[in-house]
Amino acid sequence: MIAYNQAQKTVHSIEQQVSYAAEQLQRHGFDRYYNAMVGAYVSDVHKTLNYPTFANATNRAKNPLSSVEQAVMYTTLYGKSHFDRFKAALTQLMGANVRAATVKKTIHIIDYGCGQGIASLALLDYLKTYVNCDGFTLHFHLVEPSSTTLGLAEKMVKSMATHISAVTKVHLYHKNLADFLNDNPSELMVGDFTIHLFSNVLDIPAVQQLIPELSTHMTAIKGKQMVVGVGPQYSANYQGLMMLKQTLSSAIVKQDVANFCTESEIYSIKNNHWQHSTSYGVMLGLCFKNTALEEALEKVA
Ligand SMILES: C[S@@+](CC[C@H](N)C(=O)[O-])C[C@H]1O[C@@H](n2cnc3c(N)ncnc32)[C@H](O)[C@@H]1O
Repeated sequence: MIAYNQAQKTVHSIEQQVSYAAEQLQRHGFDRYYNAMVGAYVSDVHKTLNYPTFANATNRAKNPLSSVEQAVMYTTLYGKSHFDRFKAALTQLMGANVRAATVKKTIHIIDYGCGQGIASLALLDYLKTYVNCDGFTLHFHLVEPSSTTLGLAEKMVKSMATHISAVTKVHLYHKNLADFLNDNPSELMVGDFTIHLFSNVLDIPAVQQLIPELSTHMTAIKGKQMVVGVGPQYSANYQGLMMLKQTLSSAIVKQDVANFCTESEIYSIKNNHWQHSTSYGVMLGLCFKNTALEEALEKVA
Protein backbone atom coordinates (compact mmCIF):
# COMPACT_ATOMS: atom_id res chain seq x y z
CA MET A 1 0.00 0.00 0.00
CA ILE A 2 2.78 2.43 0.92
CA ALA A 3 4.46 1.80 -2.42
CA TYR A 4 1.26 2.62 -4.34
CA ASN A 5 0.70 5.82 -2.37
CA GLN A 6 4.27 6.90 -3.04
CA ALA A 7 3.78 6.24 -6.74
CA GLN A 8 0.69 8.43 -6.60
CA LYS A 9 2.49 11.38 -5.00
CA THR A 10 3.55 12.66 -8.42
CA VAL A 11 -0.06 12.52 -9.64
CA HIS A 12 -2.31 15.47 -8.88
CA SER A 13 -5.90 15.56 -10.07
CA ILE A 14 -8.47 13.01 -9.02
CA GLU A 15 -8.99 12.10 -12.70
CA GLN A 16 -5.27 11.34 -13.03
CA GLN A 17 -5.39 9.18 -9.93
CA VAL A 18 -8.31 7.22 -11.37
CA SER A 19 -6.38 6.81 -14.63
CA TYR A 20 -3.48 5.50 -12.56
CA ALA A 21 -5.90 2.99 -10.97
CA ALA A 22 -7.04 1.89 -14.46
CA GLU A 23 -3.39 1.38 -15.39
CA GLN A 24 -2.94 -0.79 -12.28
CA LEU A 25 -6.02 -2.80 -13.30
CA GLN A 26 -4.58 -3.37 -16.76
CA ARG A 27 -1.10 -4.27 -15.53
CA HIS A 28 -1.82 -6.25 -12.38
CA GLY A 29 -5.54 -6.92 -11.88
CA PHE A 30 -8.35 -5.96 -9.53
CA ASP A 31 -6.51 -5.97 -6.17
CA ARG A 32 -3.98 -3.36 -7.29
CA TYR A 33 -6.79 -1.31 -8.89
CA TYR A 34 -8.65 -1.34 -5.56
CA ASN A 35 -5.46 -0.31 -3.72
CA ALA A 36 -4.97 2.61 -6.10
CA MET A 37 -8.59 3.78 -5.65
CA VAL A 38 -8.09 3.58 -1.87
CA GLY A 39 -4.89 5.60 -2.40
CA ALA A 40 -6.95 8.28 -4.20
CA TYR A 41 -9.44 8.30 -1.31
CA VAL A 42 -6.74 8.54 1.38
CA SER A 43 -4.62 11.16 -0.35
CA ASP A 44 -7.42 13.31 -1.70
CA VAL A 45 -11.15 12.50 -1.54
CA HIS A 46 -11.48 12.21 2.25
CA LYS A 47 -10.55 15.89 2.58
CA THR A 48 -13.69 17.04 0.76
CA LEU A 49 -16.22 14.23 1.11
CA ASN A 50 -17.34 12.43 4.24
CA TYR A 51 -19.57 9.36 4.52
CA PRO A 52 -22.78 11.07 5.76
CA THR A 53 -22.61 13.56 2.86
CA PHE A 54 -21.97 10.72 0.37
CA ALA A 55 -24.76 8.54 1.80
CA ASN A 56 -27.23 11.41 1.83
CA ALA A 57 -26.40 12.64 -1.70
CA THR A 58 -26.57 9.16 -3.24
CA ASN A 59 -29.32 7.53 -1.16
CA ARG A 60 -26.64 5.14 0.13
CA ALA A 61 -25.32 4.52 -3.40
CA LYS A 62 -28.68 3.48 -4.85
CA ASN A 63 -29.01 6.66 -6.92
CA PRO A 64 -26.68 7.49 -9.83
CA LEU A 65 -23.38 8.98 -8.61
CA SER A 66 -22.58 12.47 -9.82
CA SER A 67 -18.82 12.97 -9.30
CA VAL A 68 -15.52 11.13 -9.57
CA GLU A 69 -15.00 11.77 -5.83
CA GLN A 70 -18.22 9.88 -5.07
CA ALA A 71 -17.07 7.08 -7.39
CA VAL A 72 -13.73 6.80 -5.55
CA MET A 73 -15.54 6.70 -2.21
CA TYR A 74 -17.98 4.06 -3.51
CA THR A 75 -15.12 1.82 -4.65
CA THR A 76 -13.21 2.32 -1.38
CA LEU A 77 -16.31 1.44 0.65
CA TYR A 78 -17.76 -1.41 -1.38
CA GLY A 79 -15.64 -2.21 -4.46
CA LYS A 80 -13.58 -5.08 -3.08
CA SER A 81 -16.39 -6.90 -1.27
CA HIS A 82 -18.80 -6.47 -4.24
CA PHE A 83 -16.13 -7.81 -6.60
CA ASP A 84 -15.25 -10.77 -4.37
CA ARG A 85 -18.92 -11.63 -3.83
CA PHE A 86 -19.73 -11.48 -7.54
CA LYS A 87 -16.73 -13.59 -8.49
CA ALA A 88 -17.64 -16.17 -5.80
CA ALA A 89 -21.19 -16.36 -7.19
CA LEU A 90 -19.91 -16.81 -10.77
CA THR A 91 -17.53 -19.55 -9.61
CA GLN A 92 -20.38 -21.30 -7.79
CA LEU A 93 -22.60 -21.09 -10.89
CA MET A 94 -20.13 -21.79 -13.68
CA GLY A 95 -17.70 -24.07 -11.86
CA ALA A 96 -14.08 -23.90 -10.76
CA ASN A 97 -12.70 -26.09 -13.53
CA VAL A 98 -10.32 -24.95 -16.27
CA ARG A 99 -11.75 -25.09 -19.82
CA ALA A 100 -8.74 -25.25 -22.17
CA ALA A 101 -10.51 -26.05 -25.47
CA THR A 102 -10.92 -23.28 -28.04
CA VAL A 103 -14.60 -22.64 -28.72
CA LYS A 104 -15.88 -20.06 -31.20
CA LYS A 105 -18.69 -18.11 -29.57
CA THR A 106 -20.33 -14.69 -29.59
CA ILE A 107 -21.35 -13.81 -26.05
CA HIS A 108 -23.35 -10.79 -24.92
CA ILE A 109 -22.96 -9.60 -21.34
CA ILE A 110 -25.54 -7.11 -20.08
CA ASP A 111 -24.55 -5.37 -16.85
CA TYR A 112 -27.74 -3.69 -15.59
CA GLY A 113 -27.09 -0.57 -13.44
CA CYS A 114 -23.40 -1.30 -13.94
CA GLY A 115 -22.07 1.62 -11.85
CA GLN A 116 -18.29 1.35 -12.32
CA GLY A 117 -18.59 -2.10 -13.90
CA ILE A 118 -17.72 -4.27 -10.88
CA ALA A 119 -19.82 -7.26 -12.06
CA SER A 120 -18.28 -7.15 -15.56
CA LEU A 121 -14.80 -6.94 -14.01
CA ALA A 122 -15.56 -10.00 -11.84
CA LEU A 123 -16.75 -11.87 -14.94
CA LEU A 124 -13.55 -10.95 -16.82
CA ASP A 125 -11.52 -12.14 -13.83
CA TYR A 126 -13.45 -15.42 -13.79
CA LEU A 127 -12.81 -15.92 -17.53
CA LYS A 128 -9.13 -15.11 -17.07
CA THR A 129 -8.86 -17.73 -14.29
CA TYR A 130 -10.83 -20.58 -15.85
CA VAL A 131 -11.62 -20.19 -19.56
CA ASN A 132 -9.67 -20.25 -22.81
CA CYS A 133 -11.19 -17.22 -24.54
CA ASP A 134 -9.31 -17.55 -27.88
CA GLY A 135 -12.45 -18.06 -29.97
CA PHE A 136 -14.71 -15.68 -28.05
CA THR A 137 -16.17 -12.37 -29.12
CA LEU A 138 -17.49 -10.65 -26.01
CA HIS A 139 -19.95 -7.75 -26.23
CA PHE A 140 -20.27 -5.89 -22.93
CA HIS A 141 -23.51 -3.89 -22.76
CA LEU A 142 -23.20 -1.43 -19.90
CA VAL A 143 -26.50 0.12 -18.76
CA GLU A 144 -26.20 3.01 -16.33
CA PRO A 145 -27.90 6.40 -15.78
CA SER A 146 -24.79 8.07 -14.29
CA SER A 147 -22.48 9.38 -17.02
CA THR A 148 -19.62 9.59 -14.47
CA THR A 149 -19.71 5.94 -13.47
CA LEU A 150 -20.58 4.76 -16.99
CA GLY A 151 -17.40 6.44 -18.27
CA LEU A 152 -15.38 4.78 -15.52
CA ALA A 153 -16.98 1.40 -16.22
CA GLU A 154 -16.01 1.69 -19.90
CA LYS A 155 -12.42 2.56 -18.98
CA MET A 156 -12.11 -0.25 -16.42
CA VAL A 157 -13.77 -2.96 -18.54
CA LYS A 158 -11.47 -2.08 -21.46
CA SER A 159 -8.44 -2.15 -19.14
CA MET A 160 -9.37 -5.52 -17.63
CA ALA A 161 -10.30 -7.03 -21.01
CA THR A 162 -6.63 -6.85 -22.02
CA HIS A 163 -6.06 -9.79 -19.62
CA ILE A 164 -7.97 -12.23 -21.84
CA SER A 165 -7.59 -13.25 -25.46
CA ALA A 166 -11.22 -12.63 -26.54
CA VAL A 167 -12.17 -9.94 -29.02
CA THR A 168 -13.99 -7.49 -26.74
CA LYS A 169 -16.43 -4.73 -27.59
CA VAL A 170 -18.06 -2.35 -25.14
CA HIS A 171 -21.49 -0.83 -25.83
CA LEU A 172 -22.67 2.04 -23.64
CA TYR A 173 -26.28 2.81 -22.72
CA HIS A 174 -26.38 6.06 -20.80
CA LYS A 175 -29.93 5.61 -19.60
CA ASN A 176 -32.07 4.08 -16.90
CA LEU A 177 -33.43 0.55 -17.17
CA ALA A 178 -36.89 1.64 -18.36
CA ASP A 179 -35.41 3.48 -21.37
CA PHE A 180 -33.01 0.62 -22.13
CA LEU A 181 -35.91 -1.85 -22.20
CA ASN A 182 -38.02 0.49 -24.38
CA ASP A 183 -35.21 0.82 -26.92
CA ASN A 184 -34.59 -2.96 -27.07
CA PRO A 185 -31.17 -2.83 -28.81
CA SER A 186 -31.07 -4.91 -31.98
CA GLU A 187 -27.35 -5.81 -31.63
CA LEU A 188 -28.35 -8.22 -28.84
CA MET A 189 -30.20 -10.41 -31.30
CA VAL A 190 -27.11 -11.93 -32.93
CA GLY A 191 -25.24 -14.18 -30.52
CA ASP A 192 -24.87 -17.66 -29.05
CA PHE A 193 -25.15 -16.87 -25.38
CA THR A 194 -26.24 -13.92 -23.23
CA ILE A 195 -25.25 -13.38 -19.61
CA HIS A 196 -27.43 -11.00 -17.60
CA LEU A 197 -25.62 -9.46 -14.62
CA PHE A 198 -27.43 -7.87 -11.68
CA SER A 199 -24.99 -6.70 -9.04
CA ASN A 200 -26.53 -4.75 -6.15
CA VAL A 201 -29.42 -3.42 -8.23
CA LEU A 202 -32.37 -5.73 -7.61
CA ASP A 203 -33.11 -3.98 -4.31
CA ILE A 204 -33.82 -0.68 -6.10
CA PRO A 205 -37.60 -0.05 -6.28
CA ALA A 206 -37.45 1.40 -9.84
CA VAL A 207 -35.62 -1.76 -10.98
CA GLN A 208 -37.97 -4.13 -9.11
CA GLN A 209 -40.97 -2.48 -10.78
CA LEU A 210 -39.53 -3.39 -14.18
CA ILE A 211 -38.92 -7.10 -13.47
CA PRO A 212 -41.89 -8.23 -15.67
CA GLU A 213 -40.54 -6.14 -18.59
CA LEU A 214 -37.02 -7.44 -17.90
CA SER A 215 -38.31 -10.97 -18.15
CA THR A 216 -40.01 -10.23 -21.50
CA HIS A 217 -36.76 -8.68 -22.76
CA MET A 218 -34.67 -11.68 -21.67
CA THR A 219 -37.00 -14.23 -23.19
CA ALA A 220 -36.91 -12.36 -26.53
CA ILE A 221 -33.13 -12.69 -27.00
CA LYS A 222 -31.97 -15.57 -29.18
CA GLY A 223 -30.12 -18.56 -27.74
CA LYS A 224 -28.90 -19.56 -24.31
CA GLN A 225 -29.38 -17.17 -21.42
CA MET A 226 -27.83 -17.06 -17.99
CA VAL A 227 -29.03 -14.73 -15.23
CA VAL A 228 -26.79 -13.94 -12.27
CA GLY A 229 -28.12 -11.84 -9.40
CA VAL A 230 -26.02 -10.94 -6.36
CA GLY A 231 -26.33 -8.49 -3.48
CA PRO A 232 -25.71 -8.12 0.23
CA GLN A 233 -28.04 -9.97 2.63
CA TYR A 234 -30.77 -7.33 2.88
CA SER A 235 -34.48 -8.07 2.72
CA ALA A 236 -34.91 -5.88 -0.38
CA ASN A 237 -32.28 -7.96 -2.21
CA TYR A 238 -34.01 -11.25 -1.33
CA GLN A 239 -37.25 -9.70 -2.54
CA GLY A 240 -35.73 -8.64 -5.90
CA LEU A 241 -34.11 -12.04 -6.49
CA MET A 242 -37.33 -13.89 -5.62
CA MET A 243 -39.35 -11.63 -7.95
CA LEU A 244 -36.92 -12.32 -10.79
CA LYS A 245 -37.03 -16.07 -10.18
CA GLN A 246 -40.84 -16.13 -10.06
CA THR A 247 -41.19 -14.04 -13.22
CA LEU A 248 -38.80 -16.32 -15.13
CA SER A 249 -40.72 -19.34 -13.87
CA SER A 250 -39.79 -21.68 -16.73
CA ALA A 251 -36.03 -21.12 -16.34
CA ILE A 252 -33.79 -23.86 -14.94
CA VAL A 253 -32.68 -22.88 -11.46
CA LYS A 254 -28.93 -23.44 -11.39
CA GLN A 255 -28.58 -21.76 -8.03
CA ASP A 256 -31.62 -20.97 -5.92
CA VAL A 257 -31.69 -17.79 -3.83
CA ALA A 258 -28.98 -18.69 -1.32
CA ASN A 259 -26.86 -17.09 1.37
CA PHE A 260 -23.08 -17.16 1.14
CA CYS A 261 -20.14 -15.21 2.47
CA THR A 262 -16.75 -14.08 1.24
CA GLU A 263 -13.62 -12.85 2.98
CA SER A 264 -11.90 -9.68 1.73
CA GLU A 265 -9.17 -7.26 2.71
CA ILE A 266 -10.83 -3.85 2.60
CA TYR A 267 -10.01 -0.30 3.66
CA SER A 268 -12.30 0.91 6.43
CA ILE A 269 -12.99 4.63 6.06
CA LYS A 270 -14.50 4.60 9.56
CA ASN A 271 -11.34 3.30 11.22
CA ASN A 272 -8.84 4.67 8.67
CA HIS A 273 -7.06 1.35 8.26
CA TRP A 274 -7.08 -1.89 6.31
CA GLN A 275 -9.05 -4.73 7.82
CA HIS A 276 -10.16 -8.26 7.17
CA SER A 277 -13.87 -8.31 6.43
CA THR A 278 -16.50 -11.04 6.08
CA SER A 279 -19.18 -10.00 3.67
CA TYR A 280 -22.57 -11.74 3.67
CA GLY A 281 -24.30 -12.06 0.32
CA VAL A 282 -27.29 -13.56 -1.41
CA MET A 283 -27.20 -14.97 -4.95
CA LEU A 284 -29.42 -16.46 -7.66
CA GLY A 285 -28.50 -18.22 -10.92
CA LEU A 286 -30.95 -19.10 -13.70
CA CYS A 287 -30.49 -20.61 -17.18
CA PHE A 288 -32.79 -21.00 -20.14
CA LYS A 289 -32.75 -21.25 -23.91
CA ASN A 290 -34.98 -19.19 -26.16
CA THR A 291 -35.97 -21.32 -29.11
CA ALA A 292 -39.29 -19.77 -30.22
CA LEU A 293 -37.52 -16.98 -32.11
CA GLU A 294 -35.17 -19.41 -33.87
CA GLU A 295 -38.09 -21.63 -34.87
CA ALA A 296 -40.01 -18.65 -36.24
CA LEU A 297 -36.96 -17.48 -38.23
CA GLU A 298 -36.44 -21.01 -39.61
CA LYS A 299 -40.08 -21.11 -40.74
CA VAL A 300 -39.69 -17.78 -42.57
CA ALA A 301 -36.50 -19.06 -44.27
C1 LIG B 1 -25.50 0.03 -5.56
S1 LIG B 1 -25.10 0.63 -7.12
C2 LIG B 1 -24.50 -0.88 -7.92
C3 LIG B 1 -23.53 -0.59 -9.02
C4 LIG B 1 -22.85 -1.82 -9.60
N1 LIG B 1 -23.78 -2.70 -10.22
C5 LIG B 1 -22.04 -2.51 -8.53
O1 LIG B 1 -22.33 -3.67 -8.19
O2 LIG B 1 -21.12 -1.89 -8.02
C6 LIG B 1 -26.67 0.84 -7.89
C7 LIG B 1 -26.57 1.30 -9.35
O3 LIG B 1 -27.87 1.26 -9.96
C8 LIG B 1 -28.01 2.39 -10.79
N2 LIG B 1 -29.43 2.69 -10.94
C9 LIG B 1 -30.26 3.32 -10.07
N3 LIG B 1 -31.49 3.39 -10.59
C10 LIG B 1 -31.46 2.80 -11.80
C11 LIG B 1 -32.42 2.58 -12.83
N4 LIG B 1 -33.69 2.98 -12.71
N5 LIG B 1 -32.02 1.94 -13.97
C12 LIG B 1 -30.74 1.52 -14.10
N6 LIG B 1 -29.80 1.70 -13.16
C13 LIG B 1 -30.14 2.33 -12.03
C14 LIG B 1 -27.25 3.49 -10.05
O4 LIG B 1 -26.90 4.54 -10.89
C15 LIG B 1 -26.05 2.70 -9.51
O5 LIG B 1 -24.98 2.71 -10.40
